[in-house]
Amino acid sequence: MSIIYGRRVRLRGTERSDLEKFVVWVNDPEVTAGLTLFLPMSSVDEEKWFEGAMQRPQEEKPLTIDMKDGTDWRLIGNSGFFGFDWVVRSAEVGIMIGDKTVWNQGYGSEAMSLLLRHGFKTLNLNRIFLRVYADNKRAIRAYEKVGFVHEGRMRQAVYKQGVYSDLLYMSVLREEWNAMTKEN
Ligand SMILES: CC(C)(COP(=O)(O)OP(=O)(O)OC[C@H]1O[C@@H](n2cnc3c(N)ncnc32)[C@H](O)[C@@H]1OP(=O)(O)O)[C@@H](O)C(=O)NCCC(=O)NCCS
Repeated sequence: MSIIYGRRVRLRGTERSDLEKFVVWVNDPEVTAGLTLFLPMSSVDEEKWFEGAMQRPQEEKPLTIDMKDGTDWRLIGNSGFFGFDWVVRSAEVGIMIGDKTVWNQGYGSEAMSLLLRHGFKTLNLNRIFLRVYADNKRAIRAYEKVGFVHEGRMRQAVYKQGVYSDLLYMSVLREEWNAMTKEN
């Protein structure tokens, strides 16, 4: 798989050298508020995650997100597909822009639109879905912007910081993505 380029963002294979930043991000309560991660993670935990991730099938390996920074690329996050069902041609997608200084500047939605293109055009998926906490308004907005449709709500399926909240399911179907991008 070669690097996936967008206008301001690219997705590439995750390197061991990315882990130094990842471990900072996955210990930042503002970042993990939207993630299933909630316990402190050490650099050893992060190494173990990386070693495990490198054993997964190629299409399930994490994709590091870089943003264009002048003529260079700067690491800002991580993403990936998992839970593939090759009969249904469905998979789940996840994303983290760990660098908070670039939130709300369109990088997350651009990365997600690249993931959709990759999922539909390269992996030939028919359905791409995600789960998001109902209180993660920034994420929900970013997903709506690139065409994710709300499809369900699991009530009180999340417990964080002593509070139960709802979990939303959102998805994009191939036919919707084709209509949106006018590509067939
Ligand atoms: C969720 C995430 C990927 C979004 O990336 P991003 O680059 O910040 O998002 P974008 O700038 O592309 O889009 C965010 C949108 O939400 C809007 N937004 C921000 N805060 C909001 C709020 N409280 N209510 C409603 N909309 C909000 C922004 O204005 C923007 O919309 P606009 O372009 O129409 O103005 C990123 O913030 C992130 O990784 N957060 C931490 C980890 C996480 O929560 N991951 C998702 C798990 S499901």
